Amino acid sequence: MAERRISSIDGKLAEEFAIPSHVEDVKEKMADFAMRHTEAGRRVVLITSGGTKVPLESRTVRFLDNFSSGRRGAASAEYFIESGYAVIFLHRHRSLYPYTRMFLTINMLDALQFKVTDGTAGNPSDVVVDQQMLPNIVKVLKQYQEVKEGGLLLPIEFNTLSEYLHLLKAAAQALHPIGSKAMFYLAAAVSDFYIPASEMPEHKIQSSNGPLQLSLNMVPKILSPLVKDWAPQAFVISFKLETDESILLDRACRALDTYRHQAVVANVLDSRRGQVVVVTPETQVELRLTEEEVQKGVEIEERIVSNLTSAHTKFINPVSLHLPET
Ligand code: PMT
Repeated sequence: MAERRISSIDGKLAEEFAIPSHVEDVKEKMADFAMRHTEAGRRVVLITSGGTKVPLESRTVRFLDNFSSGRRGAASAEYFIESGYAVIFLHRHRSLYPYTRMFLTINMLDALQFKVTDGTAGNPSDVVVDQQMLPNIVKVLKQYQEVKEGGLLLPIEFNTLSEYLHLLKAAAQALHPIGSKAMFYLAAAVSDFYIPASEMPEHKIQSSNGPLQLSLNMVPKILSPLVKDWAPQAFVISFKLETDESILLDRACRALDTYRHQAVVANVLDSRRGQVVVVTPETQVELRLTEEEVQKGVEIEERIVSNLTSAHTKFINPVSLHLPET
């Protein structure tokens, strides 16, 4: 019964969601990346990050989107790298990106100046950075260059829901060979609804036809085949977002019950930057920043990553139970 459900999700993916032309190339890249780092003694985490776009027309003018900025995923990628992981960063195009995320609100041209030498300015080799405008730029640049040189971050972009679904499947299959050394950290806010290609109008929907009524289908729950079929030995973390705090933990427990993966990070929209609960089948651990920590710039992602990397270690090396000989 379970097998039939999984293969029907696979079939649905192939039939109703356009397969991106580069998916096989990307899969090979991810598999090589995972194997290289595993051989070097590193664990590999696949992070999903950002929202998804759901087109309303096949020659898309309009689409449905959601709030996710990608900050959770981008910040977590940095903390995973700091903890010794290699990171595959499956992110929505133009959502926040590790390291550069800190400078996104700054106009780069205001932060750069020509050095004035001999009373003249404008020599291209004399462009200097105003470090007050780009706080921590030297530290962040060093980190970024080390990460690049070490090949520790593999960025993969998606735009649409279809791309997300196929690339996540490809990632799961690419990481299958490294078994429990792989972690999936599914922080993306994925649309639950979509319009199948067969029901989508080709051209721009005309407002002259009057008010628009949409009927959307349910997106297949990809966690199911991911956990049971594509990467069954991996350490899998999903996220649960609610706006009503009173139902949050119940929904997180239900997800664990349904998908049988290792943990859910539960968060509420308004408090997500300072407070989450890591829910496992055995425990519920609240992680919360104090006002003082927030002022100092501590990020909740540092705590989430620390909690999950420890849990991943235990998952890979479960303490064996030695019973006394009788
Ligand atoms: O990006 P930020 O602005 O920093 O915000 C971070 C966040 C709030 C988006 C993040 O912390 C978060 O909670 N992400 C999950 C949002 C959510 O509620 O997801 P969901 O309940 O729709 O899905 C549950 C899980 O299954 C998620 O891990 C999701 O990535 C995954 N999923 C969902 C649907 C689907 N078709 N495939 C999936 O893999």
